[in-house]
Amino acid sequence: MAVYDRKLYPIDIVDLSEDLLDPLSRAFSRWWEGGVDVLLGLACIKEAFRQRCLSAGADMACRIAMLKADRRMVGFCLSVPQPKMNQSSALVTHALALRHLKWRIWTSPRLWRYVNRFLVRRIKARFFGRGGKEQMSAFAAQDGLLDGKTEYVAQLIVDADYRFGNIGFDLMLDMEEQARRRSARRVCGLVNRNNIRAQRVYAAVGWKRTSPGDTNHDHFMMHKDLEVLPE
Ligand SMILES: CC(C)(COP(=O)(O)OP(=O)(O)OC[C@H]1O[C@@H](n2cnc3c(N)ncnc32)[C@H](O)[C@@H]1OP(=O)(O)O)[C@@H](O)C(=O)NCCC(=O)NCCS
Repeated sequence: MAVYDRKLYPIDIVDLSEDLLDPLSRAFSRWWEGGVDVLLGLACIKEAFRQRCLSAGADMACRIAMLKADRRMVGFCLSVPQPKMNQSSALVTHALALRHLKWRIWTSPRLWRYVNRFLVRRIKARFFGRGGKEQMSAFAAQDGLLDGKTEYVAQLIVDADYRFGNIGFDLMLDMEEQARRRSARRVCGLVNRNNIRAQRVYAAVGWKRTSPGDTNHDHFMMHKDLEVLPE
């Protein structure tokens, strides 16, 4: 049982729209301090949200939690209805990241440090099979439920001042409902082995480990099979 008084926040959950793009990008910069998306700068984040969620070729769905009282943004969930085998969790694509990196790296020592850590992680995963991220292929091997029937959660984040209530939980249930409407039969996502908070919220909405025995990956896959609702 949670060892804190869980607060209840009356919220609405809405789709990202053009008028919410700037406030969401600024909120994300505050909430995900230190994440590579944020180190690449606000312009990069805005471009990524517009490209991935609002443009004609959008491949991501973004649902935002807003307080009913004052329409304050307090969290969002980013998902990919048609994930690829090597689906990354990043909002910012490699191409977009490289375009902004070549300008920002000269003025951001933190970005230098991030790139170094990133390369070390990749080398460890590639040559020593340690760390790294579990791949979607974990499913393909199981039952091939990858052909457009699996929806992938790329990001779930709640403003630190509004956690331990219901927002993460409600965003995950909402994401599941949206996925069902898109005829998904499974929802899944990667979670860091040390991120117990996220693992607990995922488990609370019925997610389970995809490869319980896996001890290699820093980020392991969790998922939930969605029962098909009667017509
Ligand atoms: C992980 C994160 C999204 C959780 O969001 P949150 O808003 O704090 O979580 P909630 O308030 O919804 O859940 C808090 C608890 O209430 C429970 N809960 C919430 N609503 C509930 C409900 N309606 N019924 C039953 N339980 C409920 C949750 O299961 C959780 O239980 P626990 O404390 O026993 O684990 C948040 O901590 C965060 O943004 N972390 C940083 C970013 C991150 O790590 N994202 C995940 C990447 S994989």
